[in-house]
Amino acid sequence: MGSINIKSICCIGAGYVGGPTMAVIADNCPEIKITIVDLNKERIAQWNSNDLNKIPVFEPGLKEIVKKVRNKNLFFSTDVPKAISNADMIFISVNTPTKTKGIGAGRASDISWVEACTRQVAKYAVGETIVVEKSTIPVKTAEAIKSILMSCSKEDEQSKTSFSVLSNPEFLAEGTAINDLQNPDRILIGGDDPESIDALKNIYLNWVPENQVITTNLWSSELSKLTANAFLAQRISSINSISALCEVTGANIEEVKKAIGLDSRIGSKFLNAGPGFGGSCFKKDLLNLTYLCEHFGLPEVSKYWEQVISINNWQQYRIYKTVINKLFGNVNKKKIVILGFSFKSDTNDTRESPAILICKYLLNEGADLLIHDPKVEKNQVEFELRNVGIDNNLNWIFTKNLDGIFDNADAILVLTEWGIYKEINWKSVNKVLRNPSWLFDTRRIIDPDKVNDCEFNFWQVGRGNDL
Ligand code: NAD
Ligand code: UGA
Repeated sequence: MGSINIKSICCIGAGYVGGPTMAVIADNCPEIKITIVDLNKERIAQWNSNDLNKIPVFEPGLKEIVKKVRNKNLFFSTDVPKAISNADMIFISVNTPTKTKGIGAGRASDISWVEACTRQVAKYAVGETIVVEKSTIPVKTAEAIKSILMSCSKEDEQSKTSFSVLSNPEFLAEGTAINDLQNPDRILIGGDDPESIDALKNIYLNWVPENQVITTNLWSSELSKLTANAFLAQRISSINSISALCEVTGANIEEVKKAIGLDSRIGSKFLNAGPGFGGSCFKKDLLNLTYLCEHFGLPEVSKYWEQVISINNWQQYRIYKTVINKLFGNVNKKKIVILGFSFKSDTNDTRESPAILICKYLLNEGADLLIHDPKVEKNQVEFELRNVGIDNNLNWIFTKNLDGIFDNADAILVLTEWGIYKEINWKSVNKVLRNPSWLFDTRRIIDPDKVNDCEFNFWQVGRGNDL
């Protein structure tokens, strides 16, 4: 390949990564035409909706960028072959969930969507094409991608094709995706073809300082993504494990967090105790890592990382048990208000949200749940609860409105740290609950001083001073 100037990009997968990532590239590179394609017609229609509140991903700042660049240099389409054949560079940004059947079921990542779109790239690409892995994938996936592409490359002069494969993992977090994309800590590019690496690097250099773009070999890049998520998840399980110890010793996790976080070797970020990590990736990527370790003959390493998941499951379970214990071991027909169903604030994503299992456990105990979330849709709650075996919606209802929801409640359980919950006037809420009642704050967003005079009992994760 000669010096490569990218004029046209195709991104396969219009999800939480594909949509925001390409919107930010389009905004920073007006001379590049970007087409995001997806098999899901409804999703593409939503991205093309005139009503920007209907785009399928809620992310602060996203709709403003989409408004600016859509149909100028950013396009959403279901015509996958056309977008592939017009592209100099193709990002694969499809889902890579945990396998549900066959070898590695329940742990290994399912790369069938990656393989399916690689085959489409092989079929429809024209000329020289750079294929970029954006999805999070098992180490060595680039080998499979290369092998499929090479075996399908066309040799005749008219339609000659050639491919180069790069790994460019995405580190954005939902809820802060636009800021993360606009001001990334680093951009990681793995590959073995210097010109292709430069072509991708030049795109990022439109807004990212050069010293923040790092290049590695393919396998380091693929593995760095899994490792970053594993380390982040590990911090959460570590702090959550200590939160339990705080509760039984009279220590306060907030104070412990501050004390350890000031050690510059530890750092203060990502040390918030909570109901356990959710989201589509931490669990899936950890499971994948444990599977890979075993596959490569490292069972001890695999077991080490498994513990991070075990503590996370336990944290969700112990929060449910705390609620039951505090309510005299019985929540049958008791009204419990659930504040927040998304896996974190500022996103409408519910994948692996701790709220799912905690609600399931409480519903199985006979509780009546009133679930509130400002951005999640009711059908999404229904979908998640159905997936964990809660079939009817007889004893849960969903609302997006806070008015009147606390009337006669026996307990309130804060599961997502939405800003609006920080504004709740607890003194007013105090008047309408059925006493004795409880407020459980699993996100530590409530200032204990603001509930001091209230009659209801107050529990916060990691706060042991009510002993
Ligand atoms: P997603 O499920 O929101 O989106 C994936 C999209 O790909 C779906 O809309 C699906 O219809 C589409 N798709 C699947 N196969 C296709 C095909 N053959 N042709 C066209 N479209 C196809 O997933 P996501 O959250 O955007 O994650 C995508 C990848 O990025 C995953 O590997 C994930 O681990 C990784 N990742 C996600 C995040 C995040 O915050 N969600 C962050 C970093 C990395
Ligand atoms: C995470 C990583 O932060 C991203 O870098 C990565 O790109 C992404 O996974 C991915 O690969 O998908 P995300 O899951 O969107 O991003 O959000 P996080 O902010 O990491 O939160 C994950 C979960 O951990 C949430 O449930 C959150 O509430 C919880 N969390 C986070 C805590 O309980 N405590 C904390 O201190 C931080």
